[in-house]
Amino acid sequence: MRGVESVATSSMEILLQRTLGFRVFPVIVAVVFVAAGCQPTVRVRGEAATTGGGLPQAPPPTALVPTSPRPSAARGRETFEKICSVCHGAEGYGDGPAAAGLTSPRRNPMTDFFKLFGITLKGEKLPSRPANFHNQIAMRLNAPFVLFETIRLGRPHTAMPAFGPKAAYGANKWPVTLKDNEIWDVLFYAWAFSTTPQTIALAREIYTSRPIDIGARTATCAACHGPDGDGKGGALSDEMAAKVWGWAREIGPGIFTDVNLLGQRKPSELFQRIADGRGPMPGYRGKLTADEIWALVDYVRTFMYDYTPARGQ
Ligand code: HEC
Ligand code: HEC
Repeated sequence: MRGVESVATSSMEILLQRTLGFRVFPVIVAVVFVAAGCQPTVRVRGEAATTGGGLPQAPPPTALVPTSPRPSAARGRETFEKICSVCHGAEGYGDGPAAAGLTSPRRNPMTDFFKLFGITLKGEKLPSRPANFHNQIAMRLNAPFVLFETIRLGRPHTAMPAFGPKAAYGANKWPVTLKDNEIWDVLFYAWAFSTTPQTIALAREIYTSRPIDIGARTATCAACHGPDGDGKGGALSDEMAAKVWGWAREIGPGIFTDVNLLGQRKPSELFQRIADGRGPMPGYRGKLTADEIWALVDYVRTFMYDYTPARGQ
């Protein structure tokens, strides 16, 4: 429409429209129709018809958390003590030998701009404190993927450097580069400081062998989720597979071996799902204490990696 209006405003174009308008307009319309006809069309003949029922299965997404070998906190411990403990401390309290002197990198758009002209701005250096991995409040708010990004890219404007090949804008690059799977290993080791072996053992016991009243019957977590977290626990889990779309395909909420999903869940979200339930997942508020639910959260996450107690535990 805008094209047609502006044509009418200039006398030059009025002339053009008078002489060519009758021919140009139908040509435009024809081009538009031809172009529309050339768009890719959706094929209605589905593969379902040829494979005999069900929708065609999408190729499995690449596992972002490695599945073979699974991340191992024990392997991560070696990296941690070699590289991370200088700032985070061997026991993860954020009190390593370098911690006291750390400052945040001064880089920001302003300093970078002046740097182009050879001027180095002397800003104030702020102290930057390494994270204390025993701080459960902080650790429960971070999904594993977020920590992965932090370790890979570094955290801008703090002393937390990048261990991946390239630092995020405003972060430092550490001289040592870790591969993605090494980052996962060390991440789960850092995580281990925020739980304890007793907590994991208690949760394993509840998960696999404590029958809890869920309304019409009693059941263990494993009866639905499976002892291996893959949603294969017997009759009850078969029932779930019939009700919940992903379970038959071993993906989606409640399938703890679906690492791409579990890797994105914050511990606080998992807590909420266990406490309040969701759909066929019963709520356990009042049936389990808050500490027991947090323990279960820590335990459920061990379906993604091999747990090992952290130093000092
Ligand atoms: C040069 C010191 C230094 C080294 C070495 C270092 N870190 Fe950090 N790290 C920090 C600082 C400082 C922070 C806090 C950043 C902030 O203020 O948000 C931090 C934060 C983190 C966080 C985020 C925690 C949270 O609650 O958000 C993770 C995870 C982490 N470090 C893991 C590691 C791992 C794993 C290594 C070793 C591979 C490592 N760090 C090595 C200084 C360091
Ligand atoms: C009756 C079967 C059943 C029982 C028993 C059960 N769950 Fe679930 N659970 C489910 C289903 C189904 C889902 C997926 C719900 C949805 O669609 O979000 C789920 C979801 C979850 C989730 C959220 C996962 C996510 O990433 O979204 C957690 C965590 C969880 N269950 C833990 C537990 C724990 C711990 C127990 C034992 C205290 C337990 N469940 C007992 C069926 C069950």
